[in-house]
Amino acid sequence: MKLAVVGGGSTYTPELIDGFARLRDTLPVEELVLVDPAADRLELVGGLARRIFAKQGHPGRIVTTADLEAGVEGADAVLLQLRIGGQAARNQDETWPLECGCIGQETTGAGGLAKALRTVPVVLDIAERVRRAAPDAWIIDFTNPVGIVTRALLQAGHKAVGLCNVAIGFQRKFAALLDVAPEQVHLDHVGLNHLTWERGVRLGGPDGADMLPKLLAEHGDAIADDLHMPRQIVDRLGVVPSYYLRYYYAHDEVVRELGTKPSRAAEVAAMEKQLLEMYGDPALDEKPALLAKRGGAFYSEAAVALASSLLRNTGDVQVVNAYNNGTLPFLPDDAVIEVPAVVDATGTAPLPVPALEPLYAGLIANVTAYEDLALEAALRGGRDRVFTALLAHPLIGQYEYAEALTDRLIAHNREHLAWA
Ligand code: G6P
Ligand code: MN
Repeated sequence: MKLAVVGGGSTYTPELIDGFARLRDTLPVEELVLVDPAADRLELVGGLARRIFAKQGHPGRIVTTADLEAGVEGADAVLLQLRIGGQAARNQDETWPLECGCIGQETTGAGGLAKALRTVPVVLDIAERVRRAAPDAWIIDFTNPVGIVTRALLQAGHKAVGLCNVAIGFQRKFAALLDVAPEQVHLDHVGLNHLTWERGVRLGGPDGADMLPKLLAEHGDAIADDLHMPRQIVDRLGVVPSYYLRYYYAHDEVVRELGTKPSRAAEVAAMEKQLLEMYGDPALDEKPALLAKRGGAFYSEAAVALASSLLRNTGDVQVVNAYNNGTLPFLPDDAVIEVPAVVDATGTAPLPVPALEPLYAGLIANVTAYEDLALEAALRGGRDRVFTALLAHPLIGQYEYAEALTDRLIAHNREHLAWA
């Protein structure tokens, strides 16, 4: 089995490598290619990756290259983990929206739109080249904003599945609280990428007993604390929102908070510098503890599980980003939703979702409309399309804000936008 990671020079990569090494029975990788144009990073990350494989006795070969076509040729799966413009561009996404009193975040709100505009054309170009070099390969997209990027890939006819670690994070947390193996926990996870709720936590599978009421009764404080939301809100909802919902449910509070501290991009940039120094140490042969301070916990488990289901035709259930196809009847079929799906060699088939309460359906429908317009703007460019997408976003909605944010988005991203 051959896998390629585009963006393999990321400081996140050792997390993936560690997962491939530990879980080699689930996913027997013979060749792993790390593709990245940044030669210096790739060298450091590739070196550590080889030492991790060697230490864990993994027989697989790790190849590093800047040549995308050569790297992905004949691959069974290609993982996309890119951040166009790096932490510097992310820092902008997290900063200028605050000037307008709006949330500054790399996937939510105006910053998320900026990221989509920078990212979609690049990912589509890469996917096209992957299709020529490895026509049968599955594309597993971690690249944010995952919902919009996955939709772009699917619309262009690629064999793609979008993946995020929010669901697997909840699965692991609830499993620990229930003292059962993570595989025993099935989540009734529903929504869009970074806009999801856990409506049930079932033991043993989709038809198992729902443990969510018990979890909320016994661990409600801890669950709410993790989300930085008041317990009474979680109790009132009776479902567990992802921490990205805080940008909606506590928008103004978060804006105030963000105004008082360095951006997450600045924090991550400092961590990345330290991580790269550590990766250069020939004595280091495992993923460093510092990596746990990044948001990517359990990414590798999610990636291995999904690749295994796709490539080994397991037919088990994973939370993925895929076409709606009637699953949420109030959305278009070609909206991309994040739900549990049966995954096998033919792709993903979302499980049926019980009727959604208006409180969730309304926001999902609104953000889906925004994502639709955001993708239009990313594919076709133009100030008007950017403005329209921002006006459609439930966290923006007023033309005065949309105008001011449009100007800033374009000014800060000109070098990444072919049309600007
Ligand atoms: C979570 C999200 C990812 C996001 C990451 C950011 O894992 O699911 O989509 O990229 O957080 O983590 P960072 O350490 O870069 O802030
Ligand atoms: Mn994510």
